[in-house]
Amino acid sequence: MKRALITGVCGQDGSYLAELLLSKGYKVDGLDRPGGDTTIRQRNITHLIGRVNFKLVPGDMLSLTTLYDIGMRGYDEIYHLAAQSHVGQSFEDPILTVSVNATATMKLLEVLARLSKHTKLYFAASSEMFGDIVYGESANEQHPLMGKSPYAVSKIAAFNMCHIYRKVHKMFIVCGIAFNHESSRRGDDFVTKKIALGVKRYANYPHKTTRVKLGNISAIRDWHHAKDTVRGMWLSMQHEKASDYIFASGVGHTVEDWLNEVCKIYDVDPNKAMIKNQRLYVRPWDVDYLRGNPFNAYNMLDWTLTYNFKQTVQEVCGE
Ligand code: GDD
Repeated sequence: MKRALITGVCGQDGSYLAELLLSKGYKVDGLDRPGGDTTIRQRNITHLIGRVNFKLVPGDMLSLTTLYDIGMRGYDEIYHLAAQSHVGQSFEDPILTVSVNATATMKLLEVLARLSKHTKLYFAASSEMFGDIVYGESANEQHPLMGKSPYAVSKIAAFNMCHIYRKVHKMFIVCGIAFNHESSRRGDDFVTKKIALGVKRYANYPHKTTRVKLGNISAIRDWHHAKDTVRGMWLSMQHEKASDYIFASGVGHTVEDWLNEVCKIYDVDPNKAMIKNQRLYVRPWDVDYLRGNPFNAYNMLDWTLTYNFKQTVQEVCGE
């Protein structure tokens, strides 16, 4: 029986990945950072708590004790998903973002190199690392990294460090470069879920005070479903060679496209349901266009998408 650790198990990806690994017969530990309201924090994994082979391990990636314990447990596979994952918030607290996303990942690499070199590591890299891609083109794994936010820079630092440990210490480290991936378990402050919840509220109470307040709605993102991403994570860790993989749909849509699709579901006029360019939600430096080329994941991992754009929107809306 393989033993795996998921950092960030309470998040959208962590919860789907825990389900997948349990279904494949793994013993799964989930690193859970105590704090805030437990019911809210653990809402994505309530159904897993108490299940045989699933255990929550309290800990914090910022704690050396936690990292040391992880090294000493000698897992077969670690899926390192824990992060300060909100790009907008990384402008508010760049230092925390770098500490959690970059420095803690570097410490984890060093701990594994010294205590548990056989452990395979998956690192959740991000398409934000690319910064803007030339309009109309799509990025593969070799695309230059020109991050435009503290979040992006933190992921670039950790990503490059993963390459160093893969090369120098001969460790099995996979970097998954996931483009935007969504689901009904997405946090409420990401634009997809925010629109889904906001438009539904507006449909129920159509009034100017219930309109969804948004920032830049012309940004283009390459969205797919988070269940597909986590299958890619697992597949990439089973391949004989550790590598980097793009997880993307290859199709770009604007935030406005997402809004229009949600408005169709609730039968409301998008122009009435939202207010755009609200300063609070416009980023100091936004990535205008992101589209990925998942050829390697298709080709080397047999990775396929089971949700298209429309189905992803529907699932996020819970419809
Ligand atoms: N969050 C948010 N809220 N974004 C808004 C809003 C708003 O009110 N209005 C417009 N946007 C725009 C953002 O400026 C951005 O261009 C786009 O919507 C998507 O924003 P998010 O949903 O916050 O996602 P993200 O693209 O910044 O980052 C997500 O995807 C990355 C992978 O590409 C996150 O999940 C990252 O952690 C992940 O790495």
